[in-house]
This record gives sequence, C-alpha cells and structure tokens, in this order.
Amino acid sequence: MVPSSGSMKFLFSVYCLCCSLALAVTFSLIKSKHNDTGSKLYPTHPEDNATSLADPCSPEGFDAVTLDDKGLMHYFRGHYVWKGFRTPAAFINATWPEIEGPIDAAFRIHHKNQPEAHERMYLFKDDLVWAYYDGKLVAGFPRRISEEFPGVPGHLDSAVECPSGECKSDTVLFFKEGSVYVYVLGETPAVKKRAWPLPQSCSAAVRWLEKYYCFHGVNFTRFTPVSFEIPLGYPLDTRDYFIHCPGRGHGFETRRNYTFLSVKDRCSNRSFDAFSSDDSGRTYAFRGSYFFRTDSKRDGWHAWLLSHNWKELKGKIDAAFSWENKMYFIQGSQVTIFLSDQFYTLVQGYPRPSQEELGIGELDAAFTCPHSSQLYVIKGNKIQMVDLKLSPRATEQEKVIVHVHVDGAMCNTEGVHIFSGPFFYRYTDVASLLSAKELPEAHRISTEIMECTQ
Ligand SMILES: *[C@@H]1O[C@H](CO)[C@@H](O)[C@H](O)[C@H]1NC(C)=O
Ligand SMILES: *[C@@H]1O[C@H](CO)[C@@H](O)[C@H](O)[C@H]1NC(C)=O
Ligand SMILES: *[C@@H]1O[C@H](CO)[C@@H](O)[C@H](O)[C@H]1NC(C)=O
Ligand SMILES: *[C@@H]1O[C@H](CO)[C@@H](O)[C@H](O)[C@H]1NC(C)=O
Ligand SMILES: *[C@@H]1O[C@H](CO)[C@@H](O)[C@H](O)[C@H]1NC(C)=O
Ligand SMILES: *[C@@H]1O[C@H](CO)[C@@H](O)[C@H](O)[C@H]1NC(C)=O
Repeated sequence: MVPSSGSMKFLFSVYCLCCSLALAVTFSLIKSKHNDTGSKLYPTHPEDNATSLADPCSPEGFDAVTLDDKGLMHYFRGHYVWKGFRTPAAFINATWPEIEGPIDAAFRIHHKNQPEAHERMYLFKDDLVWAYYDGKLVAGFPRRISEEFPGVPGHLDSAVECPSGECKSDTVLFFKEGSVYVYVLGETPAVKKRAWPLPQSCSAAVRWLEKYYCFHGVNFTRFTPVSFEIPLGYPLDTRDYFIHCPGRGHGFETRRNYTFLSVKDRCSNRSFDAFSSDDSGRTYAFRGSYFFRTDSKRDGWHAWLLSHNWKELKGKIDAAFSWENKMYFIQGSQVTIFLSDQFYTLVQGYPRPSQEELGIGELDAAFTCPHSSQLYVIKGNKIQMVDLKLSPRATEQEKVIVHVHVDGAMCNTEGVHIFSGPFFYRYTDVASLLSAKELPEAHRISTEIMECTQ
C-alpha cells in the first residue's frame, strides 16, 4: 500500500534513488563473476554452517543497519555483522564484546548541541542501549533505554537518526509495532508517538546521504522522515541495491568499472573542473560527468553521476555557483539553472546563452560568496564582477589576479578557494584575492579536501 503522488518531485526522487543505489551497489567493490555463489563472495564464519543467516544474500533481511562514526555501513543479522560488505560475516561480539547478538536496532546519533554524544553509534537489545565511540564502549553504558531515551519502549524494531534540517531539530525515530516514537533530542527531550503508514514495521532503518530507508524482510522502502511519505516505486529488493549478490543488481557489471575508477580517482593529481558551495553548506567537486560531495565525508566517499542530482545536466561543466536557492552551471557559452530544494529541479527554458542571462562569455571558473549577489567570473588571469541583482547585468572592469590558470573557485564561510591543477589556495575574502601580489601557500586538494592518505 504505497501512497501515490503524481508530483514531479517524487518521480525525480525515485529516479535519483535508482541511480544512487545502483551506484551504491558498486561500492561493495567485490570482484565477482556471475557464477560465484553468495557463500564464496561472503565466506561464512567457519564455525557456522547450520544456517543461511551468515549469507547476506539469503532473504532474511536485517535486524539493523547503520553507519559508524567513520562512515562505514554496518549490516546486522542474528549474531552477525557485515562491515561495508568487503569483509566476511563476523560475530557481533568479536567487535563489541559487551553485546551478544541478535540486536534490535542501531543508529549513529546526530546531536550537534551535545558534542560528547554527537556521532556515537548506539546499539539496542531488549531494554538496554550501548553507546560506542571509536570502537569503545562509552563509560556508563549499557543503560536502560527508559533512562537514556525516556518514553521510548524496549524491544524495538529499529531506529534511525534525523538531523536538524531534515527534521525540525536533532531527532531519533524509533520504530516498534506499527508506531514511530519521534524523540526530539535536547535539554528537555520530547517524545511523540505516531502511526507508521506501512502495514509492516521496519526491521531496520538507515539514513544515508540525506535519504531514509526502511527495511522489511528482504525489501526496503524509502520514506521522508517528517511526513512519512513513500515515493512511488517501492518496495525494492535489498539485494539489487544495498548489497551485491551474484546474478543480481542494477546495472552492476557495467557501472562497476568506471565508478570504481572515478572513486579511486578522487585521490589522483588530476584537476577538477569546478567546485561550488551553497548557502546551506553543501559543497561539490566536479570532474567529467561525476561529482563528489565534499561536506558529507562522514557518510563515506562516493562518485555520483551528475544526473543523480541534476537530471538534465550532461557532459562536463566549466563552472558552478549558487545564488538565491538556485544552482547555476556554465558549460561553454550556455547556462543551466536548477532550483535547489531537497532535490534540484530544472528551471524551464534552460540551458540558454550565458551572454544573455549573465552578460558573460566563456570562462574558467565562477563563484558567489554566501548570501551575496556578486558573481565573480574568472578567465585566464582576469576576474570580473557581475551583480546578479541588476538587470540588465552590469559587468565591472576586469582585474588581474596572481593566478595564471584557474580550474575552479568557491567561496564559503572559510573564505575564497582557488583551485588549480592538484592544488588549491585560500584567501580570507575577495579583497585579499584581488590585492594579492604573490601566490599564498599551496594546499593539496587530494589530501586536504578529498581525505586521501598520500
Ligand atoms: C564459472 O563458470 C565457468 C563455466 O561454467 C567456469 O569455467 C568457472 O570456473 C566458473 N567460475 C567460478 C568462479 O566458479
Ligand atoms: C561446513 O561446511 C563445509 C563445506 O560444506 C564442511 O566441509 C564442514 O564439515 C561443515 N562444518 C560443520 C561444522 O558442519
Ligand atoms: C560470540 O557469539 C557467538 C555466537 O553467539 C558465540 O558462539 C560465541 O561463544 C561468542 N563468543 C564470546 C567470546 O562470547
Ligand atoms: C517484497 O516485495 C515484493 C515485490 O514488491 C513482494 O512480492 C514481496 O511480498 C515482498 N516481501 C516482503 C518480505 O516484504
Ligand atoms: C575499465 O576501465 C579501464 C580503464 O579505463 C579500461 O581500460 C577497461 O576497458 C574498462 N573495462 C570495462 C569492462 O569496461
Ligand atoms: C600526486 O603528487 C604528489 C607530489 O608530486 C605525489 O607524492 C603523489 O604520489 C601523487 N599522487 C598520485 C596519486 O599520483
């Protein structure tokens, strides 16, 4: 019983889910042939033969799914846990000796106002909750659920965090028997019991890259965390999306190669085409037909196709910037504009010539600073300012900057970043970029932004 909605937004989100999860599958990165068996792919624990529980491709579903504080996805079933599916099933008690599986629920708390709790991993079983950080049990745990989360029952089905921005404030959703206990974190926590719209409860639930998934048996359904809406097209089979199983998948074989290459490629010294950030702090790095989110490292690194976020956008881009809840992409002499909401929607009538829209021709890089209508356009070693509030667009006199070649530029609360080859350069503001007489210290994009180790 999936509530239907005809809105384009939902269709778009379903489309996104398909490509996103197809890509997600590729991140298990398991070298396999079609005739591999599940048990060869995921060797079971040597002591266990009696049950198929240790085979993630068996249709039992999961007890809990969560990211840990390092961004690694954990799947729990029975006594077992898979960590990102690159490793064979392991006993839960091998990692968390204080707990004997099966567990009921798990999540990674998002509690910005309480830094000592933020990003901890919580595991639930019966009436107790354990909190872990950096692989260690936090002092004082296990505790009773009723003490740690007053008003929340024991013997849960599942739980998932919902950070402020996606929920009104930092919240945890606890699922049990057709109800959701919406627990708002804070000095005076509040819990509200709401009805879950699906006939089955979620045996596991997870938030991944700002989207929410409910697992029931071998299936999963996406949902929105405030209104509990279910986009069209669900349920889907977990084995086609979240985990890689022999002979299954969603374009797995064809997508694997180039996605894998571009994921590794984030650490190469190749230049990026563009960087951009928006007022809500989302930052993007673009290369070819891929992009990376550079502000959500906690969810792991993923190379996404441009069409995952901006359905109509094709080919490589020259520059990207945000203004007034819109994202602008420059490709050659054309500009394409998308409305930024939870999803990006193409503004009708685009692409169109950037000369007409912005009064600018081809360029190397462009940026706006937060909450400002001034667009800075870089071509060669020249920079020019365009006031986006004025119509027709008036451009100011070009100025020369110290950078001979710029690939991309971005301005956020930390200042102006100029990207060139494998390096980036930081300025506190536009004025210091304009007045610089020599290059500031060069920083390596791969190590300082893309978190590569070498
Ligand atoms: C897959 O099947 C082919 C042909 O049946 C066989 O030669 C090959 O060894 C098999 N590979 C694996 C990994 O089982
Ligand atoms: C587990 O399975 C393997 C291969 O099927 C078999 O050789 C082994 O004896 C089994 N072990 C137990 C404890 O049943
Ligand atoms: C870990 O859990 C397994 C499965 O429940 C159990 O057989 C084993 O004895 C446990 N190990 C320890 C050290 O408790
Ligand atoms: C999973 O979804 C399929 C197709 O929608 C459905 O036929 C099946 O009953 C579902 N299974 C479970 C366990 O929810
Ligand atoms: C995978 O990528 C490499 C390097 O780009 C390429 O040489 C190879 O042909 C690709 N393999 C497949 C199956 O597409
Ligand atoms: C990038 O360049 C640095 C410095 O020249 C070098 O140490 C590093 O190995 C290079 N990385 C790759 C992936 O080529």
